[in-house]
Amino acid sequence: MRVIIVKDKEEMGKRTADLIAADMKAKERITYVLGLATGGTPLPLYREFIQRNKAGELDFSTVVTFNLDEYVGLPPTHPESYRYFMDENLFNHTNINPKNTHVPDGMADDVEAFCEKYEEMIADVGGIDYQVLGIGSNGHIGFNEPGSSLGSLTRIKTLTETTRKDNARFFDNNLDEVPKYAITMGNGTILNARRVVLMAHGENKAKAVADALEGPVTAMCPASVLQLHRYATYVITKDAASQLTLETYES
Ligand code: GLP
Repeated sequence: MRVIIVKDKEEMGKRTADLIAADMKAKERITYVLGLATGGTPLPLYREFIQRNKAGELDFSTVVTFNLDEYVGLPPTHPESYRYFMDENLFNHTNINPKNTHVPDGMADDVEAFCEKYEEMIADVGGIDYQVLGIGSNGHIGFNEPGSSLGSLTRIKTLTETTRKDNARFFDNNLDEVPKYAITMGNGTILNARRVVLMAHGENKAKAVADALEGPVTAMCPASVLQLHRYATYVITKDAASQLTLETYES
């Protein structure tokens, strides 16, 4: 596993954009498939993407995206839905074709059928080339909460109290407003991506990062599943790296 320790979240965004841009350029396929995340963590990366796209350095016209997750019960027009977040913070500001962007449908009538279809859609475009991840303070990736099977695919998950409390800040700090369920790609879906990058900043992520990188592979810390991935990179700030014990990491 490659671990890059950076000084702040702006550098985290730049270094991650460099990794993805290099892979996009190296690729000779007609489409490039990005797996995307929401939350505060990927915002510096999305700002980089937008800037490089506007500068003509990074073309999104042939990019296809699949988001990790979505709250169940929030329509795309809800400002806290992940579809809304992606449109506002990335898609609307690049030359990506909106038809090529996919976010799980939190309003699907038949959630199970939708989840199966989502997996098929990913397979139909040849799988995810680069998966972008943040990490929850309890070690979750996407909405794969502790206890999630390490081989799981896209499905509905009940959110833990910790995650709902962490995310209450987006819902006027009103826990009752935070949805109880989400559709999420599984740990297995994430493992199937050709490359994965996990970003983290802030001291509140330090324990989850240390558990994921240096602890055992366990469903109790879903991000630890990346230890089984061939091309997983962590790009983390110094404060998020503060509980790591090995001294062999890059900067
Ligand atoms: C949510 C998302 C995750 C994200 C996590 C951390 O629960 N489902 O994909 O990584 O929050 O969020 P933040 O980046 O805001 O700390």
